[in-house]
Amino acid sequence: MRESAGVRVRKTKRSKGLFITFEGIEGSGKTTQLDQAAELLRRQGLPVVTTREPGGTALGLQLRKLLLDLPEPMDPGTELLLMFADRRQHLREGILPALEAGRIVMCDRYTDASRAYQGAGRNLGEGLVDLLQESFCPLEPDRTYLLDCPVSIALARIAARPGGDRDRIEREGVAFHERVRAAYRKRARKEPERFVVLDASASPDEVCRELMDDLEPFLEPFRTRATR
Ligand SMILES: Nc1ncnc2c1ncn2[C@@H]1O[C@H](COP(=O)(O)OP(=O)(O)OP(=O)(O)O)[C@@H](O)[C@H]1O
Ligand SMILES: [Mg+2]
Repeated sequence: MRESAGVRVRKTKRSKGLFITFEGIEGSGKTTQLDQAAELLRRQGLPVVTTREPGGTALGLQLRKLLLDLPEPMDPGTELLLMFADRRQHLREGILPALEAGRIVMCDRYTDASRAYQGAGRNLGEGLVDLLQESFCPLEPDRTYLLDCPVSIALARIAARPGGDRDRIEREGVAFHERVRAAYRKRARKEPERFVVLDASASPDEVCRELMDDLEPFLEPFRTRATR
């Protein structure tokens, strides 16, 4: 167990709860897959909590508005710090208590998103993100699903999404999204035990099947508990 600015996190595997994150470029299908997986688990009576970043708390919702809707330009460093302010609050108020209560937490984006978007997309470098993570949000996910597909496919989905105006980050050019995608893939190669790269250009059902096959062994302890 180590203490980091008041967040106590076990470096070894936690005995309670399960922390699953969904990552990938905009339009890759994170929310689609998270919702589908959470629904399947709920139907099996498993204790699932779904959440997202930024915006997983009341404070975070205000930060999300600033981060995604601010009409004026934002300094990249400010963007990174606001992302971590959101994450820190989310960890303390939402994620850690849910894990402590033995729940399966499914989170739409987490620290890997800051590495990809602010570290690579905004060219701030991964070192700065690692430093903030170590200092303020040292909890690592148990499993991270990277929804990976070509930028052209993801952006076409965003454009076709019903009723959706593109937010400040979605409006970035193709080169930005290519940097983000490359950074995600690089991270997945660096941490193959935590990451599972899913081919997000496949149909939603195919992606879901692959994801659920991988997740199944992690659910076993929860099933045993549920039937006891
Ligand atoms: N595998 C898929 N094949 C085709 N369309 C998909 C697939 N997955 C999701 N979609 C559609 O693409 C759009 C984007 O999906 P979704 O909102 O799940 O992506 P996201 O990664 O959560 O995006 P964002 O980062 O903007 O939140 C939606 O309209 C969704 O219905
Ligand atoms: Mg989404």
